[in-house]
Amino acid sequence: MRRGSRISRLPPSRLIDFWSFRKSCAHGVCGSDAMTINGIERLACKTLVRDVAESDGDVVTIEPLRSLPVQRDLMVDYARFFEFYRLVKPFLIPAKKAEHGETIQMPDERSKFDDPTKCILCASCHSSCPVVAEKDADFIGPAAVVQAARFVFDSRDQGIGARTDVLDDPHGVWPCENHFQCTRVCPRGIKVTKNINMVKRQIKAFKENGDQDT
Ligand code: SF4
Ligand code: FES
Repeated sequence: MRRGSRISRLPPSRLIDFWSFRKSCAHGVCGSDAMTINGIERLACKTLVRDVAESDGDVVTIEPLRSLPVQRDLMVDYARFFEFYRLVKPFLIPAKKAEHGETIQMPDERSKFDDPTKCILCASCHSSCPVVAEKDADFIGPAAVVQAARFVFDSRDQGIGARTDVLDDPHGVWPCENHFQCTRVCPRGIKVTKNINMVKRQIKAFKENGDQDT
């Protein structure tokens, strides 16, 4: 299937016979079936026909995600996407060994990074980003920055210095131009652009005074 191919006039049951695409959970939590439907990134399992077609005979255009190489039909190669993901060190980097075997975190501290924990790495935001598509293919992209936010704002984490090399790079967090496309398409309702801007401020503060708590 070429980008832009139209697969209307085939009932959904026939599509499954003909086209290659990924899926797993069917409940909007694994992120494997993100695709472009009528020009907008969506999870196929969470999209009803009535969401994208008003009446019988309407054409629904289904295409693979953008800005990632197509492997076959609706399947894209996520290798580069996950390369960017790994660059931001998406794991807890604690300062020191916890006293009494555990690190205490209060509810208000936990709430600071609640939003980015909802990310399912579907790459919809990456696909929708005009900067990735038109200006900087090496921009690590909104999803990688959301993953960085998940740990940068965790009170148990002291890894901002280790992540700054990547985030403060010309292809790190700075290429974002606040188009808000990522926020519009995120199927988890994450405030992606807001998280990117918060990370920008945190990197600035860290560089100015080494302070993680802005
Ligand atoms: S931020 Fe939203 S759109 Fe982007 S990868 Fe995570 S869940 Fe998908
Ligand atoms: S199949 Fe898992 S999110 Fe759609």
